[in-house]
Amino acid sequence: MDQEEGRRQIRLGLFVLHAGYHLAGWRHPQARSGGEDFGLMRETALIAERGLFDLFFLPDTPTSSRGASPSAAARLEPLTLLSALAAVTADIGLVATASTTYNEPFNLARQIASLDHLSNGRAAWNIVTTLSAEVAASFGRAGHLPHAQRYARAAEFIDVAKGLWDSWDDDAFVRDKASGVYFDKAKLHYLDHEGPHFSVRGPLSLARPPQGHPLLVLAGASDDGQALAAQAADIVFSAQNDLAEAQAFYRGIKLRAAQTGRDGGRVLVFPGVLPIIGATEAEARAKFDELQSLVDMEHALPLLSFFLGHDVSGLPLDEPLPDLGPSDAMKSRTALLAGLARTENLTVRELARIVAAGRGHLVVVGSPVQVADTLERWFLEGAADGFNVMVPYLPGGLEDFVEGVVPILQARGLYKTAYAPGTLRDRLGLPRPQSRYATPLSSLERVPVSCDR
Ligand SMILES: Cc1cc2nc3c(=O)[nH]c(=O)nc-3n(C[C@H](O)[C@H](O)[C@H](O)COP(=O)(O)O)c2cc1C
Repeated sequence: MDQEEGRRQIRLGLFVLHAGYHLAGWRHPQARSGGEDFGLMRETALIAERGLFDLFFLPDTPTSSRGASPSAAARLEPLTLLSALAAVTADIGLVATASTTYNEPFNLARQIASLDHLSNGRAAWNIVTTLSAEVAASFGRAGHLPHAQRYARAAEFIDVAKGLWDSWDDDAFVRDKASGVYFDKAKLHYLDHEGPHFSVRGPLSLARPPQGHPLLVLAGASDDGQALAAQAADIVFSAQNDLAEAQAFYRGIKLRAAQTGRDGGRVLVFPGVLPIIGATEAEARAKFDELQSLVDMEHALPLLSFFLGHDVSGLPLDEPLPDLGPSDAMKSRTALLAGLARTENLTVRELARIVAAGRGHLVVVGSPVQVADTLERWFLEGAADGFNVMVPYLPGGLEDFVEGVVPILQARGLYKTAYAPGTLRDRLGLPRPQSRYATPLSSLERVPVSCDR
């Protein structure tokens, strides 16, 4: 059990934005980078497994610029990279970000199910609707779908993917040499889905995944995003930098999940956190200052524009951020950053520098004890079930966390000391979804059972 002795424990994901999360992390003297460097990714995954991380989480957008973060401009495709990592890791969950706006359900369901088989039940899909409008031009689309339509398509996409994963009953493949029966035809199901966005007959050309349905992660935080997450996600990944707001978000997700008939306890909320760790607070502060000194406005301003959904490049840098109005891109993050600028009366330059560090996520600068204290507080005070840890640069920023913070959390009984056996769902304490074609237990009970033993 990951919840040792029945006690609720912190879960951890490692959010791997290549070369590190801090915009200038790749420039740190100890940083290593290279979007195609499998060696670095393998080393990172193995360090994360040493720290008993639950998830190795790859964000993605099918475009090069991704808000002009230079070290993420070129990178390996997530499902391909994770399939290679599946072969060199044993326990960590493998989370691939993939878009419902720029994929077809059949292909993607097949790829994610393949990863689940390859990894013995460690695959997860971070469902995104893609916010960069520029992606449309690479897919022959006249334009990017508006926010509400992206979410309507996402909801149908998820339903189709789940249906395809249920194409074969768990015990459909008997492979009986004596009788010559490879699979039981009665245990094969055609989806025959006809909907506003997709028409999918099925079945999927793959046995039901070890987890039944690979783990589903959702990162949208707007109203539509939360509604879909409450309905479909196993983990909700969010950006929060204020404890009270994070608590409200956490309560809201659990409540919405309960309103859709789900057990709110089984929808886990993971805010992102960027720890900058030094042996002492002063050392950590010096490290943070060093990273911030490497930030240049040439990259920080496009990143800010990306997250605000408005071009801020023409605004005076040292005046307060004006009210830019809502955006159709990342509604939740736009609101979070605009709110921060308003309450703290931040200039455009100041906000750009904040975004360069944590992009709106919680940033904790301190000693390992101080970082552990913050995580403990958010966890115990109803703001998080786990965290997506974003390290400023690789692999040193991760080593600081694994060597410094993990042992403290373990000593406090807040974190596991070994991986539990089983699939990713088992480790996270989440149930294996039943197939939509399974006979409900209640009707099974009514069937007279004959047994010749
Ligand atoms: C914490 C977080 C991480 C995200 N990561 C990605 C990503 O890697 N790729 C992507 O295309 N969208 C990503 N998104 C965007 C969402 O999938 C979604 O498209 C966007 O947030 C707009 O939805 P919202 O307005 O509901 O937040 C992320 C969103 C959040 C909140």
